[in-house]
Amino acid sequence: MNTHLHITAWVLALILFAVAVMLHKQGNAKGSKIVQMILRLDYLLILYSGGDLIANYFGGDSPLMGEAIAKGIIGIWVIAAMEMTLAKIKKDKPAKGGYIQLIIAVILTFILGFVRLPGGLM
Ligand code: HEM
Repeated sequence: MNTHLHITAWVLALILFAVAVMLHKQGNAKGSKIVQMILRLDYLLILYSGGDLIANYFGGDSPLMGEAIAKGIIGIWVIAAMEMTLAKIKKDKPAKGGYIQLIIAVILTFILGFVRLPGGLM
């Protein structure tokens, strides 16, 4: 149930992040800021749905508990990397480090989310 909310929330975040970057590159700083504000609200949905999914692992004795916790931490890292990247872009500073972190963190969440943990796309 909350898997759908989680997928919707993080897909939306990746789209909103890309739109915020594009708007800023097109010189539309105000539009970019508004999109980033919506993105920040979407973080709450990600945290809520991810927290709900991770709660399934607490209390039980799942052998995947450690990976579920790692998934949560790396998910938060994705959010942090998006914020860092946008902060650099807004100051017109090089954002390469932010992008690299974002790519690594997203790849790790995808591996843990789709391959290692059972929820997948159900
Ligand atoms: C933008 C950040 C995030 C991305 C890109 C992301 C991505 C994913 C993906 C691809 C999956 C597997 C499919 C799905 O159920 O959606 C997943 C599942 C999951 N995520 Fe996230 N996630 C993010 C943030 C978080 C956060 C912040 C938490 C914890 C607080 C979290 C906890 C979980 C848990 C527990 C699962 C379920 C694993 C399972 O039981 O199968 N995620 N996430």
